[in-house]
Amino acid sequence: MSTAASPESATPYGTLPPAAVPALRKPVSLPRLADMHARGEKITMLTAYDATFAAMADAAGVECLLVGDSVGMVCQGLPSTVGVTLDTMRYHTESVSRGVRRVQGTAWVIADLPFGSYQQSREQALASATVLMQAGAHMVKLEGGGWTADTVRFLVERGIPVCAHLGLTPQTVHALGGYRVQGRDEAAAALLRQHALELQDAGASMLVLEMVPAALAAALTQELARCATIGIGAGRGTAGQVLVLHDMLGIHLGKVPRFVRNFMAGSAGIAQALEAYVRAVKDGSFPDDSLHAW
Ligand code: KIV
Repeated sequence: MSTAASPESATPYGTLPPAAVPALRKPVSLPRLADMHARGEKITMLTAYDATFAAMADAAGVECLLVGDSVGMVCQGLPSTVGVTLDTMRYHTESVSRGVRRVQGTAWVIADLPFGSYQQSREQALASATVLMQAGAHMVKLEGGGWTADTVRFLVERGIPVCAHLGLTPQTVHALGGYRVQGRDEAAAALLRQHALELQDAGASMLVLEMVPAALAAALTQELARCATIGIGAGRGTAGQVLVLHDMLGIHLGKVPRFVRNFMAGSAGIAQALEAYVRAVKDGSFPDDSLHAW
């Protein structure tokens, strides 16, 4: 990695165009994300698991880096996210956070509370969230609706920003019967809406909507004024978008979900692909109508 570059563009991984140098941008914060949401500016999010990719995504202008428990499937070769431990999440959160800080980065770091680290009690959730916040996260994410609202309120009241996650919740893949679209029929859509409103009331400031029909995701986005929806396989009507980093770079071992676009196609390299993702989310050209989960 070259460090011989002009002062304003020197990064641990080479030279960047001045506009992409994080030091020239304002750090992403909760009020800034709320402001983007209120103004209708699309929020960009990608998963990140290590320092180098985190620094590159940050430099490309990705506002939120999600240290997803997808790390289990992407990096550890696990069959699902169920086997990911809190210690694994701590390790990757530290790595991502170091990557962001190394380039005086601006990104907002979100860490997944893994399966089994928050279901027992609110106190267990607080202890697990503390580990991830001390590892460098700015926010934690947890999956599911209903009983989770109480846990979300408990964490938010104690100063821990929370991102919720509804729709296809990979930690409960066995209970859901596979990776399939959620909220398709009227009753399921009504329950999802009820859970979303409860999570907003509990203080969740972001909500990932994974693999839900576009019309439902768009309607929820309109209804949730205090909680920014981030879609994945949920159409273009959400307040922001997230993808698994490796998927959007075309790095995978098998089938990718049909809502994924390979941003390496037509890009000269990884930095350009990351910038293309940011542009496409911001201008609304990703996802297009052919890129959905159903
Ligand atoms: O773990 C993860 O990568 C996620 C995203 C798919 C939203 O939760």
